[in-house]
Amino acid sequence: MAVQKKKQPRRSNTIKLKFDTSWTYAPAPESRSVAQIAPEYDLFINGTWQKPSSGEYFDTINPADEKVLSRVAAANEKDVDKAVSAARQAYDKVWRRMPAKERAKYIFRIARMIQEKARELAVIESLDGGKPIRESRDFDVPAAANHFFYYAGWADKLEYAFPNRQCSPLGVAGQIIPWNFPLLMAAWKIAPALATGNTVVLKPAETTPLTALKLAAILQEADLPPGVVNILTGAGATGAAIVNHPDINKIAFTGSTEVGKLIQRAIAGTPKKATLELGGKAANIIFEDAPIDQAVEGVINGIFFNQGHVCCAGSRLYVQESVAAEVIRKLKHRIETLIVGDPLDKNTDIGAINSRQQLDTIHRYLAIGKKEGAEMYESSCALPRKGFFCRPTIFTNVAQSNRIAQEEIFGPVLAILTFRTDDEVIEKANNTPYGLSAGVWTDKGSKIFNMTKRLRAGVVWANTFNKFDPTSPFGGYKESGYGREGGLHGLLPYLSLR
Ligand code: NAI
Ligand code: MG
Repeated sequence: MAVQKKKQPRRSNTIKLKFDTSWTYAPAPESRSVAQIAPEYDLFINGTWQKPSSGEYFDTINPADEKVLSRVAAANEKDVDKAVSAARQAYDKVWRRMPAKERAKYIFRIARMIQEKARELAVIESLDGGKPIRESRDFDVPAAANHFFYYAGWADKLEYAFPNRQCSPLGVAGQIIPWNFPLLMAAWKIAPALATGNTVVLKPAETTPLTALKLAAILQEADLPPGVVNILTGAGATGAAIVNHPDINKIAFTGSTEVGKLIQRAIAGTPKKATLELGGKAANIIFEDAPIDQAVEGVINGIFFNQGHVCCAGSRLYVQESVAAEVIRKLKHRIETLIVGDPLDKNTDIGAINSRQQLDTIHRYLAIGKKEGAEMYESSCALPRKGFFCRPTIFTNVAQSNRIAQEEIFGPVLAILTFRTDDEVIEKANNTPYGLSAGVWTDKGSKIFNMTKRLRAGVVWANTFNKFDPTSPFGGYKESGYGREGGLHGLLPYLSLR
């Protein structure tokens, strides 16, 4: 047997890709001047802006250049108590008593105002969180408005949603949201709560508070009765104070599985209801009969969309052995063409990682992947000198038991595994602690139905990925949490039915 001569000794299992990309796009930045950001924000309690009782504020930065955008108030237990009593008063005296069609008018108005301010909201979302403007403009903001429109429509039709049942609201909802879709998560949580007659105390994530505060200004301008929605900024301690407040009837949380478990423990033995939308490790499955180019594009969208800061990101790819070489070759080529950089540039595909902490987490996983023996390919693109950026990266030679195939990385990192049979891929895809979403790529409808039946995931996309619609429920199995948001199902966690 001829001994193959190695051209270059490889010192590590990291390979920098280099394809011919001798052309580039001219910069096309969105204007920052449409974003009006105040130097300081107070807490939105009972329809007015109130100073935090501790007097403490913290900075929110732009992760693309690490510059401070604004200072926001840190709410403590006293502020949470004030906000919860305002929400209780508003619930008892105004909101639950208001005819449902009147409530709907407010919710419709909020939806329209989000549309009117869409451009500013998109720019602020990209500045504060680091996501590409194309995404905040074309996905986050329109989807947020659509959620308000959709649930406004249900407000006076609950008897049709749940025929022959008596629906009543629960009371005050405490809502805690993460940094990956700040305005959209606020909409997902506030819209169904208001439509069903509940009032709200909402806390945005500490790294991305600005669009929720802009939403507070919209609520004020929409003349929403004081106290119906209160918005408190702060970190984990503020969230915990909301969870533990005795006068909260329902908790809606989206974030890490770790905090989800803390919340479950905290409310055990109390009458508080909860929906928890936690992590994921979605499998994207490509069969040999799939339209390969379409599937490759879908996989790219599934994991690199929003820097992989997506709980339902397709972070594991299972590809049938006979087409694995072709798919991997095309993926390597495609990641080399992705544009990483300024979130405000309309050409950018991958913006900034949300925080230094999250970037460190991603780097830790890259090191773990290499140590476990997987082969790592990263794009050769240059990264901006300031800010938190990560190259799109794929791992091949991954074993099912590897941590990069089991744990949520929450970054632009794809683990690729192969399979031969349907049964094998089902077993592997279901073999994680999570069960939020999955994707199937095949030419055969029967195969799609077979897979969707057997995959333990709340959402299964077929020949597409990361598609959302307000009419469609979303939520997970196992450690991905419980309860559903969106659609008719999303009304249920805010109602008691008799
Ligand atoms: P996190 O779960 O700590 O943060 C989410 C929200 O919970 C934030 O508003 C935070 O202030 C709040 N929070 C933190 N501790 C709390 C507590 N004890 N009680 C009540 N609220 C609390 O998530 P983090 O640390 O920002 O990200 C860690 C990992 O979580 C990520 O790497 C990712 O894997 C996962 N994650 C998942 C998300 C999803 O959409 N399912 C969103 C964000 C993070
Ligand atoms: Mg920020």
